[in-house]
Amino acid sequence: MVKERIKKMSHYKPPLEGRGERDYLLLDFNERTTPPSPKVKEALRKFIDLDRLQVYPEYGDLEVKIAQYAGVKSGEAMVTNGGDQGIDVICRAYLDEGDKVIIPFPEFAMHYQSAGIQGAETLEPRYKEEGNLPVDEILDLLDEEKVKLVIFSNPNNPTGIATPISEIEKILAKAKEKGIAVLHDEAYFEFSKITAKDLIEKYDNLYIVRTFAKAFGLVSARAGYVLSREENIQELLKIRGPYDVNMFAKTAIMAALEDIEYMEKYVKEIMEQSKPKLEAFLQEKGVFFYSSKANFLLLKFPDSEKIIENLKEKSILVRPKLAPNGEKAVRVSIGALKDTERLIKALDEIQK
Ligand SMILES: Cc1ncc(COP(=O)(O)O)c(C=O)c1O
Repeated sequence: MVKERIKKMSHYKPPLEGRGERDYLLLDFNERTTPPSPKVKEALRKFIDLDRLQVYPEYGDLEVKIAQYAGVKSGEAMVTNGGDQGIDVICRAYLDEGDKVIIPFPEFAMHYQSAGIQGAETLEPRYKEEGNLPVDEILDLLDEEKVKLVIFSNPNNPTGIATPISEIEKILAKAKEKGIAVLHDEAYFEFSKITAKDLIEKYDNLYIVRTFAKAFGLVSARAGYVLSREENIQELLKIRGPYDVNMFAKTAIMAALEDIEYMEKYVKEIMEQSKPKLEAFLQEKGVFFYSSKANFLLLKFPDSEKIIENLKEKSILVRPKLAPNGEKAVRVSIGALKDTERLIKALDEIQK
């Protein structure tokens, strides 16, 4: 019999159906709107021509390369099957039935899902109305019994609001005293440049999850990693399977890391051109948005469902999300400049 708590859960079913049906502009999953580096394609072609699909994956110095890229010691990085697997492995390492996990609301859905699978009770302090992390409430909740883990993304998904590392350190310090781990999800690091990685040496309770899905554009290969102290990584490696990351992902990561400039060029276009352009348009139109440090914005409209429908009619997909106060809102990914111009034109027509 399947465990009762699993039976009670629902699937995390993001709205993926039909995304490939039309020539949609995909602004619903915070993906790149342009393909990854051509070097990735070339490396994947070469891998296929090697005729090694019948052989188990071998990672070689992949994790050393990732550690170099992230600026941590080798041994402090573990490659994962997407950022999602990093979250899952950490939840499996820390949580059991009867334990508690602090996950503020609203957060990335897989945080709740992975903690729920372990049977942990979720304590959900709300992000503040203006989107800030509820640091004081989290600090208070650390005093509760049976709390084993705190999980949040920085910048937050869905608001994009970033929390300064000095605030994160307050949580890390108290959590360390209490023997509680902190998962700092940095999925949007390349856009925000905000990282807690310099605290790894000081805090043995810190885990960072990152992904190659966003700025590098390798989402379909499923490629992410965890950063933490070497002794923690050694524990997590007991949970992650030896072949969980497939050779397409490994090949794609290695090639993408050979062409970091390509990724950086995209990030620059998004953060220095696309995002300011969209923000200026929204300001002019009086549309509220949270001040995001990532490649997406959470917008508030009087009737967000209608906006989502109207954009879909214009072949643009965006995502319904809840704002910190529970109101319905619209999350739009920020793509290349030409894509943002298309979004602006569509919104302008809809709002007329
Ligand atoms: C905050 C956050 N963490 C983790 C992930 C998961 O990334 P991946 O696609 O690599 O599993 C995402 C993806 O949207 C995310 O927004």
